[in-house]
Formats: sequence, C-alpha cells, structure tokens
Amino acid sequence: MRTVEWDTNRQLVKMIDQRKLPSVCEIAEFSDYNGVAMAIREMVVRGAPAIGAAAAFGLALAAQQSRATSRPEFEQDLNSAAQFLRATRPTAVNLAWALERMMRVVTNPEITALADVRQAILNEAQRLADEDVEINLRMARHGAALIKDGDTILHHCNTGSLATVDWGTALGVIRMANEQGKKIHVLLDETRPLLQGARLSAWECEQYHIPYSLIVDNAAGHFMRTGEVNICFVGTDRAAANGDIANKIGTYKVAVVAKENGIPFFPVVPTSTVDLSLPTGDAIPIEERDSAEVTELTLFGRAVAPVGAKVRNPAFDVTPYKYVTGIVTEYGVVYPPYGINLRQAVEAEQAKVRRTA
Ligand code: MRU
Repeated sequence: MRTVEWDTNRQLVKMIDQRKLPSVCEIAEFSDYNGVAMAIREMVVRGAPAIGAAAAFGLALAAQQSRATSRPEFEQDLNSAAQFLRATRPTAVNLAWALERMMRVVTNPEITALADVRQAILNEAQRLADEDVEINLRMARHGAALIKDGDTILHHCNTGSLATVDWGTALGVIRMANEQGKKIHVLLDETRPLLQGARLSAWECEQYHIPYSLIVDNAAGHFMRTGEVNICFVGTDRAAANGDIANKIGTYKVAVVAKENGIPFFPVVPTSTVDLSLPTGDAIPIEERDSAEVTELTLFGRAVAPVGAKVRNPAFDVTPYKYVTGIVTEYGVVYPPYGINLRQAVEAEQAKVRRTA
C-alpha cells in the first residue's frame, strides 16, 4: 500500500505506522482529524511530502466531521481544523502548502452545496496524493541521470516511499538508478536521534533490493575523505528562495564535508517544498523535539545518558546554498544562481498545474 491513503469504503485514512518499522509493518487507521494531527506530531507518518498528504486527508476527515449547516460555519470549522493540523510540525513547508491548497477548495465560491464541497475536498486530497507520486517519478528520472555506473552514494535520513505518498525523493532517485541497472552502492547514515536511516531507509533498501551499507552518522566524513563516496543525495523539508535548504539534523555537516572533498551534493526537492516567501534559510523555523528522543536510547540494555541529562534536540538544520551543487526538482535539475533559477522552476511548475487544473 501507499504510505498514506484514503479508504473509500470505510471513509478513513490509513497510514503505515513508521514508529514500528522495521520490526513490524502495521497499518494505523484514523477517522478524525485530531487523530491525524497526533499521527503527524508523533511521527506515525513523517517526511515532508507524506505529512502534507496526511494533512490533506485530515482536512477531508474534518469536512466529514463538521456538523455545520451553513457555509460560513463550515468554513470556520475547517479553518480551525487546518490551523490545528498545521501546528503539528513547523519545519516542513509541505504541511502548510497542502493545507493552503485544500482551503482554496473549502472557500471556492463556485461550489455551493455543502455535500459538493465535502466531495471536492476529498477529491483534492486524492489529487494531491496522486500528484506526489507522479512528481517523485519525474524527480527520480532527472536525478538518476546524475548517477554513474559504479557510484557509491551517501544518503541521509529517510527520503523514500515512506517519506512521501510513494516512491520517494532522494531515495527515489537512488531506486530509479538501481532499477535502470546501474551498479550502485548506498551508504546510509543511520540518522540519530530517531534513526530514520537505520530503521526506515535500510528497510526500504531491503524491499527494493538496493545494495547498501548502514553507517553511523560520524562515519560519513571518513568515507568522504577516503574517496569512497562519489555523490550525495538528501531530501529537504523547506528550501528558501536563495537555495538554502533545511533538512534532517546532520545534513549541514554532510554538505560541508562533501564540498571540502569535491563531492557533488544534491538535495531532491519537489517545488511544493520551496518557500519563495523566505529570502534565506535563516528564516526557516527549526523544530526542537523532546529530550526523550536523545536520552531514551539504550545500549546493552542500559540508558545512554545519566538521569536528568540536559539535552538540545533540533530536528533539522540549514545548509547554505554555497554547499549545494544543484537541486533536483520535478522540473529538472536547477543550478545556481538559485535566486533566479529556483524561482523560475517553481513558477513554471505552478503555471503547468494551473493549465491542467
Ligand atoms: O523528521 P522527519 O523524519 O519527518 O524528517 C524527514 C526529513 O528530513 C526528510 O529528509 C525530508 O522530509 C525530505 S524527504 C521526502
């Protein structure tokens, strides 16, 4: 199944429960938007495009739940549900992007009957989810052209099917190169604290038969300095207008060491992840998560930190554009100057969506 999908018969949202992988692949079901908000906050579902799609389906549930009998009441209900969903995680802009897109349907004056608005909201969520898969495939083809036979690729976090509706961003590029028959090997950063690399990316590499080795985050620099890495691919939670990118904590260190060693570093970024309203990455809000994520790991059955240890736990960091070789989008690979070329890619994509709407 897809990472997030709508069950038409039972009118609810189903998600692969990513907290339980790789031990068990369990499906979680949500029939109200509060549950979807919890799922995003607690990372049942995670990854920028996947949480955007989950929020869109969450709003479709809110539309079903609303007991409003007038349009203004209905819009008020949906507006507060959208705000509630939006507050769950601050960094990935896909969440706000998806909800804004959904709210345009909620307030569309051309659809008048409430039953029709409810149906249109669900249709829009389905369309958004389907488009995500199609966009990922387009990025995968553009990105795979950058990979040569024999390459060893460094990858951070999880950016595969599980981080999207299906297929993936950076890991989707790698999967495409593998399916094209290129002989590749992937070094997967385990990605502390929540180990998305070890738990999720390694699991996906097993599913898709992608040759990989799991490495601790601290080994990435070693392999880059010793010449064992040819190219790096990462995902992105929000890109600013100048090409700065926010991604999973540790990405910045990967990018700096890559540049120092002359290794190309490519974020794979759907245009829905680009926030042209922010001039630089300094304005991107960085989520800080619970200290338990850092301290509650055990080693040999024992706690890894003393009781009461003080913790800082930023979930993301910003990589300045000067470390970014190129940005893989569904429109193609965008190169500097990003201030001009990234905007052009986003606007071209938006114009295309308007033409096909
Ligand atoms: O905290 P997470 O697991 O949601 O973080 C995910 C990432 O940082 C991904 O790299 C990012 O969402 C882009 S991949 C689709």
